[in-house]
Amino acid sequence: MEHRHREVIQLVRRHEHIHPGGPAETMELWQAMDLPMGARVLDLGAGFGGPAHWLRGAGADVVALDLEQANCRRCRGHNPELPMPTVRADAVHLPLADASFDGAIAWCMLGFVPDQVRLLQELGRVLRPGGRFGVDVYTVRDASLYDPGRTPMRYIHSRERWLELIDASPLTLSAEEDLSDQYADAYRKFMVNLKVQIPSLRVRFGREQVADAVTRFSRNVNEVLFGGKGGLRLVCEKPTGSSSQTGRDEAVRTL
Ligand SMILES: C[S@@+](CC[C@H](N)C(=O)[O-])C[C@H]1O[C@@H](n2cnc3c(N)ncnc32)[C@H](O)[C@@H]1O
Repeated sequence: MEHRHREVIQLVRRHEHIHPGGPAETMELWQAMDLPMGARVLDLGAGFGGPAHWLRGAGADVVALDLEQANCRRCRGHNPELPMPTVRADAVHLPLADASFDGAIAWCMLGFVPDQVRLLQELGRVLRPGGRFGVDVYTVRDASLYDPGRTPMRYIHSRERWLELIDASPLTLSAEEDLSDQYADAYRKFMVNLKVQIPSLRVRFGREQVADAVTRFSRNVNEVLFGGKGGLRLVCEKPTGSSSQTGRDEAVRTL
């Protein structure tokens, strides 16, 4: 078990992914979105920038967005010769132009956002007609095992509730995949290792939550974090009949 933990730590250090499936999951979701080379893609809650850099490596023109300045800085600085364009913003108020992205993606972030209705509306605004949103989310499979008060990801739902949220948004669902089996093992390893790494990697999910999370994770990782959880991959599309007014976004930084 110990050597597996070390492997995961190395994986995050090398690839800077803060989601359970690492680069493999990033590339699977990207493939499921089926966007062309050069597509302009917004990475919501980009964290340290691992997924954004992998997407760029796969041919996407990525803009990384995060709530935390430190994460944006780290994300920009990965490759000094080719800085990643970043935006520091709350995903529920995107300082970005209408219809300016072909795709958007979010890993391990929707669960931190209380106003997901607003976030989906904002996505509907910044995506071009035909643009796609790909997201891997956690699902609550057994409400009796899941206690939102004991995890930093307070806003996760049953599969049915996630689908209702999409249904009520400007996007339409085009594909869905149950990730629960592959998440069970990956998530267990990921959370155990994140607990070990948080102090050294200075993960910021909102300053207070880091300390809270460490304490909570320490109590009972099994029960709290994946006892009642599953995973769901959703690929959504902005209908082609929607408004296509475009503009420039001024908030993107590359320096
Ligand atoms: C668990 S990390 C995932 C990072 C990255 N997506 C990855 O998979 O490696 C969650 C990230 O979401 C960001 N975040 C949380 N709430 C946000 C919000 N409302 N708007 C923008 N970013 C947010 C956090 O700052 C953090 O970097």
